[in-house]
Amino acid sequence: MAIVDNFNASQGGPETQKFKRPKPFYELWQAKQGIPSYTTFHVQDLAAVELAHWDLLGVDGCFMNLEDPFLISSMIIELKPGQKTKPLKHMFETWIFVIKGKGETLIRQDGVKDSVIPWQSRSLFGPPLNTTYQHRNTDSTETARILMVTNAPLTMNLYHNERYVFDNPFVFEDRYSGQQGYFNPTYEIIAQRYVRTNMITDVRDYYLHEWKERGIGARTVFLTGMSHHTVGAHVSEFEPGTYKKAHRHGPGAHVIILEGEGYSLNWKEGDKPTRVDWHENSMFSPPDMWYHQHFNTGKGPARYLALKSKGAPEHLCRIGAPGPNSDPDFAQKHQIEHEDEDPAIYDEFAAELRKTGAELRQPRPEYGNRHAAPGRP
Ligand SMILES: [Fe+2]
Repeated sequence: MAIVDNFNASQGGPETQKFKRPKPFYELWQAKQGIPSYTTFHVQDLAAVELAHWDLLGVDGCFMNLEDPFLISSMIIELKPGQKTKPLKHMFETWIFVIKGKGETLIRQDGVKDSVIPWQSRSLFGPPLNTTYQHRNTDSTETARILMVTNAPLTMNLYHNERYVFDNPFVFEDRYSGQQGYFNPTYEIIAQRYVRTNMITDVRDYYLHEWKERGIGARTVFLTGMSHHTVGAHVSEFEPGTYKKAHRHGPGAHVIILEGEGYSLNWKEGDKPTRVDWHENSMFSPPDMWYHQHFNTGKGPARYLALKSKGAPEHLCRIGAPGPNSDPDFAQKHQIEHEDEDPAIYDEFAAELRKTGAELRQPRPEYGNRHAAPGRP
């Protein structure tokens, strides 16, 4: 064996060498794709990110790696007017969020009739796992840009075999079997704040349900059952002149701003916050178990979409740190009530509103010792 043959401690043999950890498979695969691969805390404008030709899909694209990109990460692709992507299938789940444009996606699975999903700016859907999908820009003048948030890192690092991931004949009939109307944009409210659907035409106009425990005027809906994905998603909105309560959870939630202007503070317990200023088409991902708090400094509502690494309520797949879906008391334990905040948070917000001219509608918290404040920045 080579290791035994080469063993010679006095001459610096293998037992004196430090183990050099190879790069994860997903990272190596990314590097081979020949397109930009960005690693950043936040993206100011998804519509403005520079792309390059990606042979895999036959259109321009890039990788966007936010915090904790070992479970879930993202890609952006762009289709010129009339352009089609090459058909693609894979053993990882992906969200398709349309940043801008108009088009349709063909979904193909062996033995069943094809489905066609028409989409427009801010549509959201997920090609069912391992179905072949092909996007087409149906507009003759405007480009179409799509964000894919995928659990490709998790899947590719687990199996580290491209043929298994991209050329696998397995058919997940339990997820999709060509049902007529599968991608119709209808929805079923299955519980307070829980909606089952496979297609949302415009997430910015989507139904939301009050959730005042998260802040004044806060409204949210959790999307469940979307193509039977295990990756979860929710849409939230909050009123102008208000901010949400800080909370924290596990890694990988990609927050995409759909509407409004404001900022978010992100901090690890005991550390100073990292501030992200945002507007429509900004994106960031609060790191694993970092507190994060969203502030609306605009004159209208602020709405965002969160695409997550796990947490589809019907297909709970627990990975890493606990989250609101795996512990019923999680929200209480990991949310900071306004009364427990550092007063500087409110003062900073009030000062920001003086700059933007928006009305301050958030009452000053009655600070007290309701309980010990966890993780104040
Ligand atoms: Fe969150």
